[in-house]
Amino acid sequence: MIELRDVCFSFDGESSVLDHVSLTVGAGERVLLLGSNGSGKSTLARLLNGSLPPSSGTVSVDGAVDGLARLVGYVRQDPRNQLVSAVVSDEVAFGPRNLGLPREEVVARADEALDACGISRLRDRMTSELSGGQQQLVALAGVLAMRPRYLVLDEATSMLDKATRAHVARVVDEVAARGVGVIEISHKPVLRPDRVLAMRGGRLTEGELPREAPAYSRQPCTPRSNHTLRGSKLTAVYGSRPALSDVSLELRGLTLVTGPSGAGKSTLARVLAGVLAQDSGEVTLDGRAVRPGDVGLAFQRPEDQLFCDTVLEDIAYGPRMRGVPDALGAARDAAGAIGVGEDLLDRSPFELSGGQMRRVALAGVVAGRPGAYVLDEPTAGLDADGVRELQALLCRLADEGAAVVVITHDPEEWASCADSLVRLRDGRVEGVGEHA
Ligand SMILES: Nc1ncnc2c1ncn2[C@@H]1O[C@H](COP(=O)(O)OP(=O)(O)OP(=O)(O)O)[C@@H](O)[C@H]1O
Ligand SMILES: [Mg+2]
Repeated sequence: MIELRDVCFSFDGESSVLDHVSLTVGAGERVLLLGSNGSGKSTLARLLNGSLPPSSGTVSVDGAVDGLARLVGYVRQDPRNQLVSAVVSDEVAFGPRNLGLPREEVVARADEALDACGISRLRDRMTSELSGGQQQLVALAGVLAMRPRYLVLDEATSMLDKATRAHVARVVDEVAARGVGVIEISHKPVLRPDRVLAMRGGRLTEGELPREAPAYSRQPCTPRSNHTLRGSKLTAVYGSRPALSDVSLELRGLTLVTGPSGAGKSTLARVLAGVLAQDSGEVTLDGRAVRPGDVGLAFQRPEDQLFCDTVLEDIAYGPRMRGVPDALGAARDAAGAIGVGEDLLDRSPFELSGGQMRRVALAGVVAGRPGAYVLDEPTAGLDADGVRELQALLCRLADEGAAVVVITHDPEEWASCADSLVRLRDGRVEGVGEHA
């Protein structure tokens, strides 16, 4: 049994993140942990596997208070914080090798975990070159290969498409049926839990299964001016693998881009925003060739675009570069629109929760008010309020005339906002629809 007794935790010794939290999780039990962005879920997860010590109180696992990392497998919210090896097969073998198991056993476990997660074909790929969703699967496989007694999944499926999420749910269900206690932390849970808990104000309370939130619905409005982002005959090749082949698109209003893992969505995002040079073809915004900075780009991993000392400076960077007169004012407005609280503005952007970082990155992208935006999986890790705030904001920008491109695994989530939908597959446009 995992047992937390009267645990308190604070990062700075002043404000408490966990306030007298007690919790038990038994073998084979499935627990869902809910809570809004910044409520302390990941902090709790790190305490559960011993990677953070509590400020007071005790954490024990099957009676042990040391060596928790061997007992509690932890799939982190950001897979890149987890991956340590260059090559996928080494990554998945890393855990069992560290347990000191014989070579054959290490290989057998790694093969089994790769197979269970459906990623055997990725075994020789570089971990750094995988898509976000593929990295999540590798991180999960690496943890499963250690055969932990308990499993903590922290937004571990946030970048996966529906079919892959369902596959992961089956894999985790089987693991739980064999007696592994599972704690799923997610804004979009995949497991059917035995128990639902929620973090609120540093306390752990009984929670309720999240209901499908009503979709944000866009009020029709006639755009004042229509910016047009156009890609003509775009081709992009990594080494010998073509990621985009002859892609032509004319983007106005709010467009969804969807497609299976590896279809080329993130490559298209970078090419459209002018930060990755295409091998052939052309990208224009209102007829002019796109240069970096013309198009607001939100990366799939928001951490990748944060770099200033404070949250406010980070959000103000974009408007400053674009010569917006009151850059700090624009930054404050954008922060407010996307739910970055006043109390966060003076903090370091690197000491935030996953969802808070994403909100900061998104605020930075919209604060510069470019004519076009490309956002790569922008709702991964956002809580329900965050999703609605973002949808309202992007609809407003589109209604004001911006070309807004949202790359998503979940087109249904955006159906009531979008003007059109583009499906990519194997680097090609498979279909274009008027409405999502
Ligand atoms: N390294 C850090 N240093 C200081 N404060 C931190 C650090 N990491 C997180 N925090 C703060 O601790 C609180 C809890 O963060 P935590 O990451 O546990 O939230 P969370 O519930 O996992 O949120 P999310 O849904 O966004 O992932 C937040 O206020 C956050 O800003
Ligand atoms: Mg978190």
